[in-house]
Amino acid sequence: MRLDRFLSNLPRFNRQQVRTLLASGRLRVDGNVTRDPHHKVRIFSRVELDEETLQTGHAARYLMLHKPPGCVSATDDPEHPTVLDLIDEPARHELHIAGRLDFNTSGLLLLTNDGQWSRRLTQPASKLAKVYLVETEQPIEAHYIDTFRQGLYFAFENLTTQPAELTLLGPRTARLSLVEGRYHQVKRMFGHFQNKVLRLHRESIGPLPLDRQLAPGAYRALTAPELLSLSEPAGPEQEKG
Ligand code: URA
Repeated sequence: MRLDRFLSNLPRFNRQQVRTLLASGRLRVDGNVTRDPHHKVRIFSRVELDEETLQTGHAARYLMLHKPPGCVSATDDPEHPTVLDLIDEPARHELHIAGRLDFNTSGLLLLTNDGQWSRRLTQPASKLAKVYLVETEQPIEAHYIDTFRQGLYFAFENLTTQPAELTLLGPRTARLSLVEGRYHQVKRMFGHFQNKVLRLHRESIGPLPLDRQLAPGAYRALTAPELLSLSEPAGPEQEKG
């Protein structure tokens, strides 16, 4: 298909915008800048606009991984095994992580080669609840619930965290639901009470739970209904967090 036709078929561009984009030099096909409306776009062509991938060049992949503790949420690391080392796929180096977990955190991690999808999923406006099981060193006290609901001030970012919902499960275990993903957020929230997080496990992202059949280190493709559920707008359940 011609590049101008390919762009016009995307719902976000009208004809005038397609002409402007083509003239701008911001488009790349298979890594080469092109201004040619006749440039051929094949199924396996990679089409990019600035840093955004409009077509990946490989079939889009969406994976759920049961991240074990002791590996880095990165695509490479000089010292430690990475989550990508657990993926046995031909085009695994095209994958990136949608929502990282710390080295010792376990649980649901999503990987994809679709940059638009992962951006949508991880942007704060998505309001997708991320649910964590937390085990701490000290007892978790009932007054944490109100503090977390009201939000905590994070001086480094100069912001107050969004309301988070804490459910006590035992003296030192709880379930915490967050709608954002600040750096070390859970540990910093419990750190406010000088209570160290000993174990952290992500159970779900929005409507998507970690598949219980997946052993730590195992992964599988998301099903079509799972993908669809993640792209639906957050309902009241999601917004509570
Ligand atoms: N919050 C943390 O502190 N660590 C994680 O891995 C995820 C959320």
